[in-house]
Amino acid sequence: MQVIDTIAGLRAAIAAHRRAGRTVGFVPTMGYLHQGHTTLVDRARAETDVVVTSIFVNPLQFAPTEDLARYPRDLPRDCALLEAHRCDIVFAPAVEEMYPRPMETIVDVTALSGLLEGERRPGHFRGVATVVAKLFAIVQPDRAYFGEKDYQQLLLIRRMVADLSMPIAIVGVPTVREDDGLACSSRNVFLGPAERAVAVVLSRSLADAEAAVADGVVDGRALERRVRAFVEAEPLAAPDLIAVRDADTLLAYDAAEPPRAVVVLLAVRFGRTRLLDQRVIPVR
Ligand code: PAJ
Repeated sequence: MQVIDTIAGLRAAIAAHRRAGRTVGFVPTMGYLHQGHTTLVDRARAETDVVVTSIFVNPLQFAPTEDLARYPRDLPRDCALLEAHRCDIVFAPAVEEMYPRPMETIVDVTALSGLLEGERRPGHFRGVATVVAKLFAIVQPDRAYFGEKDYQQLLLIRRMVADLSMPIAIVGVPTVREDDGLACSSRNVFLGPAERAVAVVLSRSLADAEAAVADGVVDGRALERRVRAFVEAEPLAAPDLIAVRDADTLLAYDAAEPPRAVVVLLAVRFGRTRLLDQRVIPVR
């Protein structure tokens, strides 16, 4: 496995594979890897010839008030994990390599980046779209892998690639979970023991919403109220975002004409740690 920290070095390494006719699969990450990330790598390994993983904690997607400085990092450990999952190339650039000067060019998927999670984290999705567009221009993968856990991010990347006619297949991968159902996340290490024990309320509330839909409840507001009551029954959980939307558009829908599937989106604080979870529920 090669570990490369310059754009020129990465381009040269990939060009050699391209000349040999190999396809390239790409997994963008911010590091501190867990089983969610390695599942994306395994998927890329199974579907493409050369697997490239990037590790870059992207300052553009963090607001000044957010956890950029304390975001967990451990490159040696990440590299050992990637090697074990047969990744071929790790791209781990410094901030100065990616952004030698302030970015003048910004990618903004306008409507999608202002909704829901984007409303609560202004500028976040602009930072995500901009770095992913730049990484795509550097790596030029055939296929790129994203987790459904960050559902709005996945839809936004799909839309960006369609709007800009980028010749890249975007593959969404189902959320990988701990044994008790908590979605794997780099931020789970911040949970104290009591918080970790109750964080399972996220996945349980999603299961409860799924049961409600199976019982015929499709009204978005009724489902939101039900999920909110479920989460708020746990005193250590402070909901920040609870939304039930059309799974394809992220827009609110009319219960008289329900969509093909709804998505339940959650962002919940446990102390200082904000965790996301999500579930797509087919309606018919
Ligand atoms: P990061 O949070 O490191 O996540 C990298 C990728 O792993 C994302 O596609 C995310 O959805 C996926 N992922 C995280 N936890 C997962 C889980 N439990 N199951 C399945 N997939 C999971 O998302 C980012 O980084 C950044 O915004 C990035 C796209 C790299 C741009 O900076």
